[in-house]
Amino acid sequence: MAVIHVPRECADGETRVAAIPETVKGMAKLGLQVQVERGAGGHAGFADADYQAAGATLVDAAARSAADLVLGVQCPPPAVAAAQKPGSLLICTLTPGAQLPAVRALRDAKVTAMGLEFMPRITRAQKMDILSSQATCGGYQAVLLAAVHLPKLFPLMMTAAGTITPARVLVLGAGVAGLQAISTARKLGAVVEANDIRPAVKEQVESLGAKFVDTGTPPDAETKGGYAKETGAEFLRKQREILSAHIAQADVLITTALVPGKKAPVLVTADMRKGMRPGSVIVDMAAGQGGNVEGSVAGQRVVVDGVTILGDANLPAQVASDASRMYARNVLAFLGEFVKDGAAKVAMDNEILSAVTIVHDGVVRHEPTALALAAHGG
Ligand code: NAI
Repeated sequence: MAVIHVPRECADGETRVAAIPETVKGMAKLGLQVQVERGAGGHAGFADADYQAAGATLVDAAARSAADLVLGVQCPPPAVAAAQKPGSLLICTLTPGAQLPAVRALRDAKVTAMGLEFMPRITRAQKMDILSSQATCGGYQAVLLAAVHLPKLFPLMMTAAGTITPARVLVLGAGVAGLQAISTARKLGAVVEANDIRPAVKEQVESLGAKFVDTGTPPDAETKGGYAKETGAEFLRKQREILSAHIAQADVLITTALVPGKKAPVLVTADMRKGMRPGSVIVDMAAGQGGNVEGSVAGQRVVVDGVTILGDANLPAQVASDASRMYARNVLAFLGEFVKDGAAKVAMDNEILSAVTIVHDGVVRHEPTALALAAHGG
C-alpha cells in the first residue's frame, strides 16, 4: 500500500492545502495510506483532528522523505525536493520555468514530478483542471478586493438620501477568471463591460448580463486548444484606442488577459490609466506574468495618481478554504486516473499523465524546461 504525504505549504503567503478531510477519504478508497503534516490545513480552515477522523495519520515534515507520493499546492524548495525518495512521485503546481533549481533537484533525485497546470483541457480532464478551479476563485476574489478598495458602493440604491448609481466594472480578458469576475460583479449589482479577442467570448459575456466591448478579432486569434495567441502591434494599437473611452468610464478595471508561454499583453498604458478618475481601482490579475496594466507591481498594492492598482500575487490563497476544496478534488480526480488498489501506475501512453509529467526517471521530459535547464548549467 503506497504512502501519500500531504505537506504544510511553505511558500510565502500560501494558505492553501492540497488535500482536505473529504479527499483523504477518497484517497483511502484508492487504497492509499494517507499521512498529513500537522497544521497542513490550518490556514484553510481544516483541523488536524478532522484529517485524523477521515483516516489520515498526522506526521512531521520529515516523514515526507519516506513517502511514495507527495502532494503539494506549490513547488517545494530545492532542498525539500532533493530529499524526496528516489522513484517517488511529486504532484503539485510545478511552474518549472520559475523553479529550475527544484526541477534539477527532482531530476537528480529520480523523482517523477507532475505539474498539474499542464493538465490538457479535454472533457475527460475537466474535473482535474486546477487552472480553472483556481482561476474561478481568483476571479471572484478580484472583484471582492476591488469592492473593498473602491470608495463607492457597487449596486444601484434608491434611498431616502437619494439615488446612488451603480459602480461600472470593466473586465479585460474573459476566460475562466474573467467570466467569474463578470458574474461576481453582476451579483453585487455593478454595470459590467468586458472585452476579449477570442470570438466565442462575446456570447458568454452577454449571457452573464454584461456588455461586450468589441475590439475585433485578430486573424488566427486562437490556438487549437482554445487559448489566445499574441496579437500584432497594429491590432493592439486599435484595441487600446477603443478601450480607452471605456477605461475612463470605469470605476473598477479587472484585467486577466494571458497568452500561454508569453508575457501578458499590455492592454492599458500609463496614459490610458491616467484617464481614470481618482479613487478608481484596478486589479491586475496578470501582474505575475508581466502585467496587463503599466505600473502594476506583482505582489504589491500601489496608488498612482489616486488610482489604486492591486497586483496581488495569489488571489486563490485569499479564499483558501474553497480554493483548497476545489484543488483537493481536482487532485483526487487525477489520482483516480492512475492509482488502483494502493499502487500508482505511471504510463506515458496515457494522454493525461504524459502531458503533466515534467520529470521522469532522471529525465526532464518537458522540452522548454529541458532547454531552460541546459541554458542554466544543466
Ligand atoms: P487564459 O488564462 O490563458 O487567458 C485569459 C483570457 O485572456 C482568455 O479568455 C484570452 O482569450 C484572453 N486574452 C488573451 N490575450 C488577450 C488580449 N490581447 N486582449 C484581450 N483578451 C486577451 O485563458 P483561460 O481562462 O485559462 O481559458 C482559455 C480557454 O480554455 C477558454 O477558451 C476556455 O473556455 C477554455 N477552457 C477549456 C476547458 C476544457 O475544455 N476543459 C477548461 C477551461 C478552459
